[in-house]
Amino acid sequence: MNFSDSEIVASILEEAGFGSTKHIAEADMIFLNTCSIRDNAEQRVRKRLEFMKSLKKKNPQVVVGMLGCMAERLKTQLLEEENVLDLVAGPDSYRDLPRLMAEVESGTKAVNTLLSIDETYADISPVRYDSNGISAFISIMRGCENYCAYCVVPYVRGQERSRDAGSITAEAESLFRKGFREVTLLGQNVNSYQWISGGKTIRFAELLEKAALVNPLLRIRFATSHPKDLSDELLHTMARHKNICKAIHLPVQSGSTRMLDHMNRGYTREQYLDRIDAIRNILPGCAISTDIIAGFCDESEEDHQDTLSLMERVGFDYAFMFRYSERPDTLAAERYQDNVPPEVKERRLREIIDLQQKNSYQSNKEDAGKTFEVLIEGFSKRSDAFYSGRNSQNKVVVFPVTGNNPGEYVCVKISRFTSATLIGDAVNPDSL
Ligand code: 5AD
Ligand code: SF4
Repeated sequence: MNFSDSEIVASILEEAGFGSTKHIAEADMIFLNTCSIRDNAEQRVRKRLEFMKSLKKKNPQVVVGMLGCMAERLKTQLLEEENVLDLVAGPDSYRDLPRLMAEVESGTKAVNTLLSIDETYADISPVRYDSNGISAFISIMRGCENYCAYCVVPYVRGQERSRDAGSITAEAESLFRKGFREVTLLGQNVNSYQWISGGKTIRFAELLEKAALVNPLLRIRFATSHPKDLSDELLHTMARHKNICKAIHLPVQSGSTRMLDHMNRGYTREQYLDRIDAIRNILPGCAISTDIIAGFCDESEEDHQDTLSLMERVGFDYAFMFRYSERPDTLAAERYQDNVPPEVKERRLREIIDLQQKNSYQSNKEDAGKTFEVLIEGFSKRSDAFYSGRNSQNKVVVFPVTGNNPGEYVCVKISRFTSATLIGDAVNPDSL
């Protein structure tokens, strides 16, 4: 999400006549795009600001700005706390950056943290400045109104709003023409996407289909799905199109219905498992990944065991796992006690990570001997003798370089694996 926002910012600044540089020492203006989702994300930004101070000592002319969720959350307080900052802009005020920068040049500090009900940056064509030229993100909606009890997003990214469907498919078409072969449609809760045009409502399944029809060689991914809104219709749409990747990120957060209710997630353990069964039935071979929070307020040992047993039952291919971090303004911060002791949170998180490692390894083990279509992204990190790409299930696949180029599809038969990577050799496509 932040990466995609940075591309929008780069485009707005380019339009206003600014160029970008990969070398921080050459920059006249430096923007930090920030995240507030967990406290450690904010702590990392504070550390980065220390580094900015050292740069500013060498070059007092350099302008330092903070963008994104942390800017939105702390607003003018940041200018008081962080002397090094000249400019603060929230996620809905990027169009205002040229004016804010002019304000800074005239000698004052500049702030805009107004949230909007309709800003989607639909007309802005993002600058893909740090891209492999093959995969790109397309933001399809902004904000969130789910108000999960632990989550700061609704407060820092504002109301949910969907972007014009036509501008999304046009962006996908333009990326394809430029040689991109994979786009990921991004939103906090893509399943509630809706765009009304000419009295007709386009929902997410239809948008996904339109994106898939751009070209069969363009892979479509999406994130994030909310379990309460994942429809069978969407799964059937995925089944109809080979180029819609068979990978679903479905954050569960906890395996305990009591905790899910406490978190205001809008589904029970059973309802989540029902969605998993629907995926397995309609999309056999589809990868499922998740997010899990350890040690949310009032989480008992039994609740934690429910999370572990749900993980055993589902066998997630991949998971992002976090210890609960209280965020200001959220329902949990206002009404609940952050009462799971740190060492208990730590131990539970460790158990969750250990189990997931086992599951990821098992998932890769089951892929040994299978053949997958892989989109080549470039050389592997370790060696130029190997290509690295991904299969439809979003697993990294590494294989000896062939006569193909990055951006092309090859079939790879898996012979070895680690818990993070599948390793194999290119084979004739007939063997798929
Ligand atoms: N503490 C820990 N993890 C959190 N997440 C969101 N808010 C918090 C929090 N306060 C996690 C959720 C979400 C992912 C993006 O970040 O698992 O799905
Ligand atoms: Fe946060 Fe919940 Fe919205 Fe996701 S759905 S961004 S966890 S409030």
